[in-house]
Amino acid sequence: MSFEHTRTTPSADDNAALLSEVAAEVARCQACVLYKHALKPVPGDGDPNAAILFIGEAPGRYENQQGKPFVGAAGQFLEDLLRSIGLRRDQVFIANVVKHWPPGNRDPLPEEIATCGGFLDRQIEIINPQVIVTLGRFSMAKFFPGERISRIHGVARRHRNRMVLPLYHPAAALHQANLRRTIEEDFKRIPAALAEAEKLATPAAPIKPPEPAQTPEPPPQQLSLF
Ligand code: URA
Repeated sequence: MSFEHTRTTPSADDNAALLSEVAAEVARCQACVLYKHALKPVPGDGDPNAAILFIGEAPGRYENQQGKPFVGAAGQFLEDLLRSIGLRRDQVFIANVVKHWPPGNRDPLPEEIATCGGFLDRQIEIINPQVIVTLGRFSMAKFFPGERISRIHGVARRHRNRMVLPLYHPAAALHQANLRRTIEEDFKRIPAALAEAEKLATPAAPIKPPEPAQTPEPPPQQLSLF
């Protein structure tokens, strides 16, 4: 029996095709009212095989116009943060909890988050990232319900077979100088979370069968002289 790690990595093409299917379904989705106000669906984009998946809240006004996540001021800041750890946005995947713009940039409602959740679940399953970075309290709540972001931000935790790092939302950090410094510091924890996740994926050392118990040699028979 081999103890070798047998996980096969799907090709980027396979993942891209599967993610396109999800995006096409998002575009057709009328399961909640958000599609009525939206100009473009914003399913998410980036590397289909990314090791790191960022999950924001919902598209804002500019994302609604362009059909791409994080293209406004918060997106510019997110790109700066990525650069600070040597990454570009095309090396990660960026998605949101909710895929259509909530009118007036309002918070997504619990039923909208629940209705849209299946799309995000499928994206996570397809990309199978080693690290998920949640941006803001809505995506944090998916993994750590009942937690407070002020308490758990910046500390990666194991969630099933990956690490999840909850961070403040970049938009919040843009408006509060102290949060800006916090998110900049928290962002630097991403490489360590990735290293930790890689350890989770490393197969355990093969379990050696125990050595057979040594039966002590019988003492040599003393030949009787008589
Ligand atoms: N804020 C988000 O949470 N997502 C976006 O795509 C843009 C801003």
